[in-house]
Amino acid sequence: MNKLIVSLLLTLGITGVAHAAGDATAGQAKAAVCGACHGPDGNSMAPNFPKLAGQGERYLNKQLHDIKSGKRTVLEMTGLLTNLSDQDLVDISAYFASQKGSVGAADPKVVARGEALFRGGDLAKGLPACTGCHSPNGTGNAAAGFPHLGGQHAQYVAKQLTDFRKEEGGRANDGDTKPMQSIAKKLSDEDIAAVSSYIQGLH
Ligand code: HEC
Ligand code: HEC
Repeated sequence: MNKLIVSLLLTLGITGVAHAAGDATAGQAKAAVCGACHGPDGNSMAPNFPKLAGQGERYLNKQLHDIKSGKRTVLEMTGLLTNLSDQDLVDISAYFASQKGSVGAADPKVVARGEALFRGGDLAKGLPACTGCHSPNGTGNAAAGFPHLGGQHAQYVAKQLTDFRKEEGGRANDGDTKPMQSIAKKLSDEDIAAVSSYIQGLH
């Protein structure tokens, strides 16, 4: 970005998250400590640690700011982001966004129900299709900050949906219009299990 535009944005106060561009190469070195849980390239092996590889940069950067500020509680990451600057966070986001995400497998017993929900929602419950924001192949919409879901660990996805559904002590951060909190309230435990398994195998 040229200096004139940068100072213009500063003057207008719109320096925010969405406009900063990360440096993936610088981010790789800064992300060394994250690899223990998330995998060195962002493909974590443990089903409760989310894969970050191939996730959208804007979404990652927003989560890091929310985790750092305490808006989203991640006990395992306590203190880890405290000494990282805004530039560090966007560089780390750019690094994981540049990696290729791995894909798992769906449970054949629930895949049909999961697919129907993901692709069609549930009209009777006023539940929109997940594809509307997360795209038909689960890649999300990086520019809008809608996360990539395809290939994510089912256990992690199910925990997020359960946490979005909770009134208290759940996942307090969400998009601007709180789409996930209202959507998750319409999902039963069986819906969550099926759609999470489907997402794990989606690519
Ligand atoms: C001790 C393990 C651990 C370490 C080390 C760790 N994380 Fe995490 N991280 C987690 C867990 C667990 C979650 C998910 C918590 C939940 O269930 O909501 C998470 C969530 C995240 C998320 C949100 C992902 C999403 O899809 O919403 C991002 C981004 C993230 N971590 C980045 C990092 C970065 C960057 C570092 C290094 C500076 C790091 N983490 C270090 C355990 C760890
Ligand atoms: C209106 C748009 C919209 C629809 C429809 C939608 N989502 Fe989301 N979803 C979002 C946004 C935006 C976020 C990111 C929230 C944030 O920024 O913290 C998100 C986040 C998520 C996450 C957390 C991802 C992570 O890495 O932690 C999961 C899981 C998820 N959505 C699943 C679903 C499922 C399953 C459906 C369908 C039943 C669905 N979403 C429908 C917009 C949507």
